[in-house]
Amino acid sequence: MDHQEPELLPPHVLIFPFPAQGHVNSMLKLAELLCLAGLHVTFLLTHHNHDRLRRYANVQSSFSRYPGFRFETIPNRLPSENPRSSDRLLELLDSLKHTAKPLLKEIMLSTHVGERRPVTCVIADGILGFAMDAAEEVGVPIIYFRTIGACAFWAYFCIPQLIEAGELPFKGNEKEEAIENVPGMEDFLRRCDLPSFCRVDDLADPGLRMVIDETQNTSRVQALILNTFEDLEGPILAHIRARCPKLYTIGPLHLHMKARLTQETKSSSSSNNTTCLWEQDWSCLTWLDSQPLKSVIYVSFGSITPMTKDQVMEFCHGLVNSGKRFLWVIRPDSVEGWEGQIPAEVREWTKERGYIVGWAPQEEVLAHQAVGGFLTHSGWNSTLESIVAGVPMICWPYFGDQQVNSRFVSEVWKLGLDMKETCDRVVVEKMVRDLMEERRDEFLLTADQMGKKARESVSEVGSSYCNLDRLIDDIRLMVVGGEK
Ligand code: UDX
Repeated sequence: MDHQEPELLPPHVLIFPFPAQGHVNSMLKLAELLCLAGLHVTFLLTHHNHDRLRRYANVQSSFSRYPGFRFETIPNRLPSENPRSSDRLLELLDSLKHTAKPLLKEIMLSTHVGERRPVTCVIADGILGFAMDAAEEVGVPIIYFRTIGACAFWAYFCIPQLIEAGELPFKGNEKEEAIENVPGMEDFLRRCDLPSFCRVDDLADPGLRMVIDETQNTSRVQALILNTFEDLEGPILAHIRARCPKLYTIGPLHLHMKARLTQETKSSSSSNNTTCLWEQDWSCLTWLDSQPLKSVIYVSFGSITPMTKDQVMEFCHGLVNSGKRFLWVIRPDSVEGWEGQIPAEVREWTKERGYIVGWAPQEEVLAHQAVGGFLTHSGWNSTLESIVAGVPMICWPYFGDQQVNSRFVSEVWKLGLDMKETCDRVVVEKMVRDLMEERRDEFLLTADQMGKKARESVSEVGSSYCNLDRLIDDIRLMVVGGEK
């Protein structure tokens, strides 16, 4: 590579996601958008996830077109078979702190390495407070990227006010009781819609403390990036901006990346997902090809939701009894006691109208004309992908931000139904029929309208498009200002 004068080298951004699928997904898409703009990017991953990306995603070929992109990996101290379920996230966070912080500082302190500047700024996952400590100790600007939506982030941010007002911890068992101290959500938020971390009796609970401390840290960083768009979460974003004025909304990132790649390469970008940590079973698209228009409900609960056998059976009977076709993702590691094997009776019950895979090409599935609904756990990436595809949702939230997301889908955006944590075959059957039959036209209309707004936001005059340009300009100014 020809040697460039150091001052002509582009800014160098270090990107560091929490090592879970839903976090790696969106931050890898941000990495590609920055590379498309000509910036250099170092992406920090655990060995475990880097191996899986190389095995199951075409990440090498996708990023080979960017000479300024490279992966750096850190040892993950947890054994690879550790079920990276949400119940163990705290353990993973703690192990990361010990392994990643020294390497982070080493990368930030390294001077010109070949054709790369020293790190101009860090973009870290907003739950990795030790990354902010490292950046402050070294004197490198840091920007937080939260992989959740604005609605969930704002609910997390207001937890201290809920405690002060005596709304936390809950008194009594009334789950539907209104919550009045999250500004902008007074008209519809209930106890059962709060993030799952709030369901504790002891305010010293480690999970609750982690969420409070990491979210309050946001006011210490230079800026905050959210994977959302103004037309979806405008009212809540206004509340956040009052506390975090330097806020970039640049989502939906999966759509934004495709739009810019198409613009750049003047050809429709193949949407093959470069971020999967599991092997995708593409046979489900062939099965979908033989199904009638919008006749299939797609069922998937993300990358970390564990399920019991009883829960799976309730969904199985509910789906079969609904009489609707369904494409169901049952992740090999997700059902305790099944060891990755779907029992024969489940295969038998579901074979008439169902199709089961271990991991699907989800963006392609949601875009398929045969898909008319999405039974989801309300993870933020899945929620955005369903909105972009114009597919109505039934929400079965499990953890973290998912309870807030499901309430917004049903009550605020009117894009579907919120099952909350109910797991009952009669409720499943009724909700599937409501979504796919009784209220089908109503939801398809609102979902189509919101999908249009998502596409407008990443068009050349859209809010997310302009905000990403502003973010890139601000990073370039850091080079001038910081002489890095
Ligand atoms: C986690 C948290 O659970 C979620 O609440 C938070 O918002 C982000 O981090 P995850 O549970 O994995 O995420 O859910 P989600 O955010 O929906 O991300 C899952 C990703 O995996 C999506 O991008 C989806 O397209 C992809 N996926 C899922 C597949 O590619 N194939 C599948 O079969 C299932």
